[in-house]
Amino acid sequence: MPRLRPQLGCRVLLFAALAWTLLASAASIPRYSVVSRYNPVRNASSSSTPMQVGNGFFAFGADVTGLQTFLPWATMSDWGWKNDSLPAGVTEEDILDYRGVVWDGVQYEFGGPASAQQWLIANPNRANLGRVGLLFKDAGGEVMNVTEADLSDVEQRLGLWTGTITSSFTVDGQRVTVETFTAQSSSAVAFAIYSDLLAEGRLGLFLDFPWNDGSQKFQAPFVGYWNETANHTTELDTGSGLGANVQASINHTEVAATVFTSIGGGSPFSISRDTPSAHRYSVFPSEVSTLFSTVFSYSLLPSAALPTVTEVAEESVTAWGEYWSSNGFIDVYTGSTDPRADELQRRIILSRYLMRVNEAGHTPPQESGLVNTGWYGKFHMEMIFWHSCHWALWNNWDLLNRSIDVYNRFLQTSIERAQVQEGYTYGARWSKMTDPSGRSAPGEINELLIWEQPHPLVFAEYEFRATGSQETLERWRDVVYETADFMAAYAWLNESTGVYDLGPPMYVVSEDTSPNVTRNPAFELSYWRLGLEIAQTWMERLGEEPPAVWSEVADNLAPLPVENGLYAVYEGIEANFWTDPTYTNSHPALVGLYGWLPATANVSVDMAINTAEKVWTTWNVSNLWGWDFPMLAMSAARMGNQETAIEWLLNPYFEFDDVGMPGGGAQVPTPYFPGSGGLLYAVAMMAAGWDSRTEQAPGFPSNGWKVRTENIARAM
Ligand SMILES: *[C@@H]1O[C@H](CO)[C@@H](O)[C@H](O)[C@H]1NC(C)=O
Ligand SMILES: *[C@@H]1O[C@H](CO)[C@@H](O)[C@H](O)[C@H]1NC(C)=O
Ligand SMILES: *[C@@H]1O[C@H](CO)[C@@H](O)[C@H](O)[C@H]1NC(C)=O
Ligand SMILES: *[C@@H]1O[C@H](CO)[C@@H](O)[C@H](O)[C@H]1NC(C)=O
Ligand SMILES: *[C@@H]1O[C@H](CO)[C@@H](O)[C@H](O)[C@H]1NC(C)=O
Ligand SMILES: *[C@@H]1O[C@H](CO)[C@@H](O)[C@H](O)[C@H]1NC(C)=O
Ligand SMILES: *[C@@H]1O[C@H](CO)[C@@H](O)[C@H](O)[C@H]1NC(C)=O
Ligand SMILES: *[C@@H]1O[C@H](CO)[C@@H](O)[C@H](O)[C@H]1NC(C)=O
Ligand SMILES: *[C@@H]1O[C@H](CO)[C@@H](O)[C@H](O)[C@H]1NC(C)=O
Ligand SMILES: *[C@@H]1O[C@H](CO)[C@@H](O)[C@H](O)[C@H]1NC(C)=O
Ligand SMILES: *[C@@H]1O[C@H](CO)[C@@H](O)[C@H](O)[C@H]1NC(C)=O
Repeated sequence: MPRLRPQLGCRVLLFAALAWTLLASAASIPRYSVVSRYNPVRNASSSSTPMQVGNGFFAFGADVTGLQTFLPWATMSDWGWKNDSLPAGVTEEDILDYRGVVWDGVQYEFGGPASAQQWLIANPNRANLGRVGLLFKDAGGEVMNVTEADLSDVEQRLGLWTGTITSSFTVDGQRVTVETFTAQSSSAVAFAIYSDLLAEGRLGLFLDFPWNDGSQKFQAPFVGYWNETANHTTELDTGSGLGANVQASINHTEVAATVFTSIGGGSPFSISRDTPSAHRYSVFPSEVSTLFSTVFSYSLLPSAALPTVTEVAEESVTAWGEYWSSNGFIDVYTGSTDPRADELQRRIILSRYLMRVNEAGHTPPQESGLVNTGWYGKFHMEMIFWHSCHWALWNNWDLLNRSIDVYNRFLQTSIERAQVQEGYTYGARWSKMTDPSGRSAPGEINELLIWEQPHPLVFAEYEFRATGSQETLERWRDVVYETADFMAAYAWLNESTGVYDLGPPMYVVSEDTSPNVTRNPAFELSYWRLGLEIAQTWMERLGEEPPAVWSEVADNLAPLPVENGLYAVYEGIEANFWTDPTYTNSHPALVGLYGWLPATANVSVDMAINTAEKVWTTWNVSNLWGWDFPMLAMSAARMGNQETAIEWLLNPYFEFDDVGMPGGGAQVPTPYFPGSGGLLYAVAMMAAGWDSRTEQAPGFPSNGWKVRTENIARAM
């Protein structure tokens, strides 16, 4: 906080200091100073990313005023979704009865009636819950059209340790300071505004609500349509029937979805709707004071009670203080002489912050977290590893546990997908592009991708490593069993070779090969082996006999495809694929054979290393994005090339902006958070080691780097 402020400012500051003093003493890494060193500072809004506060399932994106005054950054959640109306000519039955094509006797969900398919892809879509900005009046009481160019002496700072943005500026000769922070147990954001303009009745808030729909796959940098005011409704309620601390409630209805915005818990105010036809409202303090503070809470039902501003501040300070003080921590900065250590540490700290703001909800995160929408706001089950597995290594089971139960929640529909829809004799097939109901978005790639399948086995294994408990074994038992059962059912015995093949049809990790000819891809074969081994061990730990078919398949999977002494993407791929841009412009999963994955049976480490080195010189690095760089770093680290591992983590194409938002590169909008999750997983592995390298920091060069870890778990 830049300066001491009446009442609230003091309290926030006091709590911050207290939390730090109490908790920091237990740790030997000076965590508070390492974290605070990277507090982002801005003096102007960014046109590409907001500064954010949040709690993992709800986040608020701010411009340089600490609100959404000049730029409509999103307020988003893991629960705020809507369905568009059905397109003309499409009925509820068409949606319920939607079936795609049958290929070789298997029913897939793609193709079929185009409008029903597109509706199912785009719905439900994730909604931007609303916008809140500052509203200025001149001395005569007229609303002023203030733009960012009218501000001077602008200072904005994100206090990572308390999860608080403090923004100050001068407008019309008067200083304004705004503190912005969120609740940690509910979807509420609080603002404390300090200015003499308030006492003069010249400063208030506006709120506005966008129309959201699924007409665009990506909505970045901003989400929603502010001019389609006739497509949706809002209504204001200031009556006596509102919940405790609620002074005003606005319901916002888009087709059949209604979200309630409850305002209160702080200073008294008056609120009015600007025009009946639009959804903009004005809020002004109703008492003369230089402080105006209030809470905005968003929910699917009318709020029964709002927290007070002070309670929200306490939650923010306490939860963030605990987050930074307990759980895993890595310090590569203190004591390192390599000049790159500072930037790597900055990426680590800001990624830790943004993962907890954007990617700790009750469903797996979308690629852009809660910043903007991609793929209609849906999430991808194959990306869970990159978004969320770092939580396991950093010992944040409290946060990972919010969403990882998704495998139990989606188990029944995944069994139905495998056995009823696709006709496999046993097992559960996990979907790819998904929404909170577990429904798979139709699509050829969505239906034919397979590398999402072993992921739950890895999460289960990491949890068992952390707890060693019978409870963990039992809670994951059905997921492990059905996952592995499908893997065994999916691999089919090729009578002419006597081995079990994967595909066709299938898509590989890089989604760039032709599914009808893709057979026995190297990465997926290795991941199948690893997964089936984990599953067999799991059953043995439970005292159950694993089904014989699991080991039958695992031991007799097709050999990894080899061309000219190197591993090939899949069996039968053109021998010159190394120089064909069709195959060298997307995720280089071949480097995952020894790096991301431990050496599995049947992988020659020498050949895997030679293959990775060939990838380094042939793949189009300028076209890689996100988790590709951590995957490349993990490969270099495991093969003992620590210098190259560092270079991949700091590659110029792997960008993190001033607030730590990871760039989407040439491929996707910014932010692309699998890059942050991947970075944290890779750094943890490099710092705390992996099963076959248990000494300290085996992934870091021995010269120039001092690496300290606390409470980081070893990778596989
Ligand atoms: C804002 O900060 C940048 C980078 O530190 C600096 O170059 C610029 O002069 C500052 N602008 C203002 C208006 O203070
Ligand atoms: C959207 O419609 C589906 C049925 O097609 C339903 O299961 C789901 O709950 C709806 N979601 C919302 C947010 O209305
Ligand atoms: C792939 O195979 C399916 C099923 O045999 C067929 O319908 C489809 O046309 C094939 N696609 C291509 C591109 O050959
Ligand atoms: C506010 O001022 C800006 C910059 O001068 C201008 O582009 C914009 O149209 C104005 N808006 C209104 C509502 O007058
Ligand atoms: C809203 O703005 C978009 C983009 O500028 C435009 O295409 C659309 O027609 C506008 N809608 C209305 C109702 O004015
Ligand atoms: C708003 O509704 C109208 C008619 O209902 C529709 O034509 C238009 O596409 C909608 N706007 C958006 C942005 O979906
Ligand atoms: C929205 O609020 C208005 C006014 O309180 C009320 O009449 C209406 O029923 C509410 N609609 C919903 C969907 O809650
Ligand atoms: C995750 O949550 C479950 C359920 O609350 C708990 O039993 C389990 O121990 C947690 N896992 C870890 C590693 O703490
Ligand atoms: C069995 O495997 C061989 C070698 O991979 C392949 O050429 C053949 O097409 C496979 N059989 C079938 C029925 O796909
Ligand atoms: C793969 O490794 C397993 C276990 O060591 C072995 O039984 C099997 O023969 C190997 N398969 C191939 C194709 O090398
Ligand atoms: C490499 O990637 C860049 C960036 O997307 C692209 O413009 C270029 O065409 C690619 N080069 C090749 C040989 O594919």
